[in-house]
Parts: sequence; C-alpha cells; structure tokens
Amino acid sequence: MTDRLEMVAVVAMAANRVIGDGDGLIWHLPADLKRVKALTMGCPLIMGRRTWDSIGRALPGRASVVMTRDESWSAEGALRASSLEEAIDLSREWISQTEGARSEIILFGGGEIYAAGMAVCSRIEATIVDLTPDGGPKAAMFPALNEAEWCREVLETVAADGDVPGYRYERLVRATPVRV
Ligand SMILES: NC(=O)c1ccc[n+]([C@@H]2O[C@H](COP(=O)([O-])OP(=O)(O)OC[C@H]3O[C@@H](n4cnc5c(N)ncnc54)[C@H](OP(=O)(O)O)[C@@H]3O)[C@@H](O)[C@H]2O)c1
Repeated sequence: MTDRLEMVAVVAMAANRVIGDGDGLIWHLPADLKRVKALTMGCPLIMGRRTWDSIGRALPGRASVVMTRDESWSAEGALRASSLEEAIDLSREWISQTEGARSEIILFGGGEIYAAGMAVCSRIEATIVDLTPDGGPKAAMFPALNEAEWCREVLETVAADGDVPGYRYERLVRATPVRV
C-alpha cells in the first residue's frame, strides 16, 4: 500500500466562486478541459454523486470514486464510497494496484465534495473564470479559503475571445503541507 499521498483539488470557478448550476458547468472552456485531463490522468478522482451524474460516465485512464450516502447506488465504472475516508482508502488501493498510476488523489468536486475534502488538500489547481454568474437555485460553489493558509501563484492569464470569457490558471499551495 502507498502510504503518504497528496490530495489536489482541480476546479474551474467564477470570480464569485460559483462552479456550476447543480447539473453542469455554466461555461465551455475547451482549453481548460484539456488542462483538466492532463492534470488528472493516471489519478483517482473523488467526486460527488451529482458530479458523476453530470459527467455521466467514467473518465478513461482515471478511477472514478463516487461519494454517495445511498448504499444501494452503483454505476458501471464507478467505485462507491460512503465517506471521505472510504474514498481516500479506495483511491489509495487503486493507486497501489494500477500500473503507471500517480501518487496524487484528485478532489474533483462538486461543491459538497470540495467542502468535505479541503482540509486535507495540499494544493489547488484552479481556473478562475472572469464571470460572476448567479448559478441559479441549485448553484454549487467552491469553499471560501483562508488566504493566510495558502500561497497563490498565477500561472497563466488568457484574454476573452469571442464567446469564450477570459480566465487565468492559479496554483495554490498550502503553507503547511498535509498528506493523506
Ligand atoms: N467547475 C468545476 O470545476 C466543477 C467540478 C465538479 C463539479 N462541478 C459542478 O458542481 C455541481 C455539483 O456540485 P454539488 O455540490 O451540487 O454536488 P456534488 O458535490 O457533486 O455531489 C453531492 C452529493 O455527494 C454525496 N455526498 C456529499 N457529501 C457526502 C459525504 N460526506 N459522504 C457521502 N456522500 C456525500 C451526496 O450524494 P447522494 O445524494 O447520492 O447521497 C450528495 O448529494 C454541478 O453543477 C457540477 O457541474 C463543477
């Protein structure tokens, strides 16, 4: 078994921390989807059942660890977890049993799952979109961070282009590292 792993949150959020309308994303950023693929390939993804529903399938080259309180839930290609601890255990097991897996667990969202796992995340790979959407009645949000706990670095800024809003990539590293 692998014992010390890094948990990394990967998120695209608006300037007001809205991440989706509860059923899906509010924007379409093709370049960001490619970046998410590169950041997550070879890793287990811990996600909430609603995020799983919004994607609708397992993402290739990664494990989909789906958190739900419904003990009868199952879906092809998903590993069910009834708590964050179980999700981390399943992720650890998948990494130790999968050739070429990376020693990183991805906290993949949505809002409830980011909130549940933020305390054990050591890094956040964030895409900050230059929008302030309302998100509607089921809006999901990224949790507010205590900035004093994080070192924030802007990696790249992309200007708006036609229908595609501007955005920037930021990396936040926890000042006091944590491992799971
Ligand atoms: N922009 C981004 O980067 C990004 C990333 C991911 C998702 N999203 C968006 O976020 C939205 C979904 O987020 P959301 O907050 O509504 O839902 P979510 O976090 O994806 O899933 C919530 C569900 O997870 C389960 N759950 C939550 N806490 C749990 C716990 N402690 N133990 C066991 N199960 C637990 C419950 O499932 P059951 O109800 O089955 O019990 C709950 O209903 C969508 O709009 C999606 O598109 C955006």
